[in-house]
Amino acid sequence: MSKYIIRGGKPLHGSVSISGAKNAAVAIIPAAVITDGICRVENVPDIADVAVYFNILRRLGAEVRDAGGGAFEINSAGVASPVATSGDMQKLRASYYLIGALLARFGRADVAMPGGCNFGAPRQIDLHIKGLSAMGASISVKNGVITATTEDRLHGAYVFLDAPSVGATINIMLAASTASGTTVIENAAREPHVVDLATFLSLMGAEIYGAGTNTIRIHGKDRLHGGAHSIITDQLEAGSFMAAAAATGGRVEINNVIPKHLECISGKLCEMGVSIHETGDSSVVVEGPGRLRCVDVTAAPYPGFPTDMQPQAAVLLCLADGTSAVTDNIFDTRFKYIDELAKMGASIKAAGRTVIIKGVPALTGAPLKAGDLRAGAALVIAGLCARGTTEIEGVRYIERGYENMLGKLRSLGADVTSSDAPARETAAV
Ligand code: EPZ
Repeated sequence: MSKYIIRGGKPLHGSVSISGAKNAAVAIIPAAVITDGICRVENVPDIADVAVYFNILRRLGAEVRDAGGGAFEINSAGVASPVATSGDMQKLRASYYLIGALLARFGRADVAMPGGCNFGAPRQIDLHIKGLSAMGASISVKNGVITATTEDRLHGAYVFLDAPSVGATINIMLAASTASGTTVIENAAREPHVVDLATFLSLMGAEIYGAGTNTIRIHGKDRLHGGAHSIITDQLEAGSFMAAAAATGGRVEINNVIPKHLECISGKLCEMGVSIHETGDSSVVVEGPGRLRCVDVTAAPYPGFPTDMQPQAAVLLCLADGTSAVTDNIFDTRFKYIDELAKMGASIKAAGRTVIIKGVPALTGAPLKAGDLRAGAALVIAGLCARGTTEIEGVRYIERGYENMLGKLRSLGADVTSSDAPARETAAV
């Protein structure tokens, strides 16, 4: 079991380039199954979730060719069966997007229940089922497999989402792309990766309006064709490096970003006393202050502060003067990192869906366990700014969603190694 070893206390300095967005990639890859044409996808992040998804597509009969430089060509002509039940399906949450994609291609889908980060409470799929059922799918769950069937083809529908679910928005959009008639998704998720999928589907011939707003209209087409697209850069990887620069009191230029997507993160970091300014149209420079200010943070659907940055914000506030509250209005038990930060001397406790944090002078290194992707990233940030050495187990969670995190951190001056892998080349920055 590999682990990261971090010798903390070194401010990060230099520049780093952000990779393609995980949550866009894992929505765009299944979308390529909807057509028997060839899709070319660029700026694909080199992360475990992408590798797993490519394996899932190959088992379905698709050809996935590495075209080099982060580009892949996906040819789904060979996909003849709408059954996706391999063990890989449990390795990530986004495997359930194949329900919408296979329904759009075949009018039927047999898809194993998904896996993904476990935040304590079960992650529902009732809104996915609500939307797909409204479009005429008959859905049942048996022996861990979700079966969705239609008489012939899905039809358009009006779907109101009780919560602006990213996953449900994406699954319904995928299915609606070839339904007969128009589908309206009301209270849709507005995250950047929802918009990026809509862009890719449009390049495949889909007719989609309003992605990025809370009302999305999809006029179904008989067929989609192949398309080419470059995935947007990862708002959450960028935010994690911004938090690392701020926590260590360093100065880091973060390149290959979309500043608009970072506004919800920059605003909160500036409240903490972090200096952030845009340089050009795809870079930000982040400079951490000597000491952070305490603030309250509430994670909410985009354009609110991302829940996927909630653990990282909590680490920063452990080092801020005063008492802060971090509330997650999306996942009410996404606090696996609390016990781990307490091992480092943090004064932190959960109160319902809120974490109360009292700033301490410093964190100290400790042996830690990552319990999910973003909690793992938060523990890395804590190790970077702690006094002494921190060892983090469970790094497989981190490597699901961060491309070459260690190489990128080393290029910024961090003293980080992995226990059982040779030091990777310093990341191209
Ligand atoms: C996506 O998960 C992301 N995953 C998550 O990122 C992210 O935390 C989350 O959106 C919120 O932004 C991917 O994109 C692969 P939701 P998803 O459906 O789609 C409730 C990461 O770290 N809900 O928007 O599962 C649900 O319980 C990962 O990159 C229902 O009630 O999130 C939650 O409280 C972790 N019924 C809220 O909605 C449903 O049918 C938001 O969930 C679906 C969701």
